[in-house]
Amino acid sequence: MKVIRKVKEMQEVSDRLRREGKKIGFVPTMGYLHEGHLSLMRKAKESCNSIVVSIFVNPTQFGPGEDFERYPRDEEGDRAKLEAEGVDFLFIPEREEMYLPGYQTHVEVGEVSKGLCGDFRPGHFRGVATVVTKLFNIVKPHLAVFGEKDYQQLLVIKRMVKDLNLDIEIILGILIREEDGIAMSSRNAYLSPENREKGLMLSRSLVKGRISFESGERRASVLCKTVKDSLESVAGISVQYVEVRDAETLEKIEAVDRPAVIALAAIVGGVRLIDNIIVGR
Ligand code: PAF
Repeated sequence: MKVIRKVKEMQEVSDRLRREGKKIGFVPTMGYLHEGHLSLMRKAKESCNSIVVSIFVNPTQFGPGEDFERYPRDEEGDRAKLEAEGVDFLFIPEREEMYLPGYQTHVEVGEVSKGLCGDFRPGHFRGVATVVTKLFNIVKPHLAVFGEKDYQQLLVIKRMVKDLNLDIEIILGILIREEDGIAMSSRNAYLSPENREKGLMLSRSLVKGRISFESGERRASVLCKTVKDSLESVAGISVQYVEVRDAETLEKIEAVDRPAVIALAAIVGGVRLIDNIIVGR
């Protein structure tokens, strides 16, 4: 695997790959890789013959007081995982390489960035959309894979690609869970054993919502209440939101009469966790 730290070099490599007729598959990450990330790379490999992964903890998508400084980092461990996965190129720039002095351009996606995580992390999706646009212009992929765990992010990126006519296919990678059901996330590393146990309540509560849906309940408000009540039955979980939204557009819906996502965010032991489940698909 070749490690590239400079924007110019990555662009030149991508130009060469394209000239050689390679299909470039791209997985952008912030590192501290787990099985969820690796599954995205395997997905890219299904249809691409040159795989690029980026690792960049993007400062512009973290708000004041969020975990940018302490976000887990492990370049050596990540490199070993990527080598084992057969990734061809790792793009791992420094902050100064990505954001030159005087940087002042941003990409803002409208409605789909609002509500849900957008309400609790102002500016987050602007930071994500901006850095992903930059990464797309640097890596020049034919296809990019984004995980379903960050469901709103996935739809923000899809909308952006459509609106800006970016010639990149966006592929969804399914949400990968640990054996006990907790959604895989680099942030799980922050959880103490006691809080990790509490964190399990996120997926368990979503399963209660799904069971209620499967038993015939269609009212979004009732499904939300089922999930929220279950989460709040455990001390030490502070719910930010539980919402049922249209799975394609993220619009608010009153009844699940089409595929819908039940999405939630909660703080457990000071750690912000998100999870979701799709119903009616
Ligand atoms: O999902 C992530 O890890 C990040 O938001 C991304 C897409 C790499 C942009 O920084």
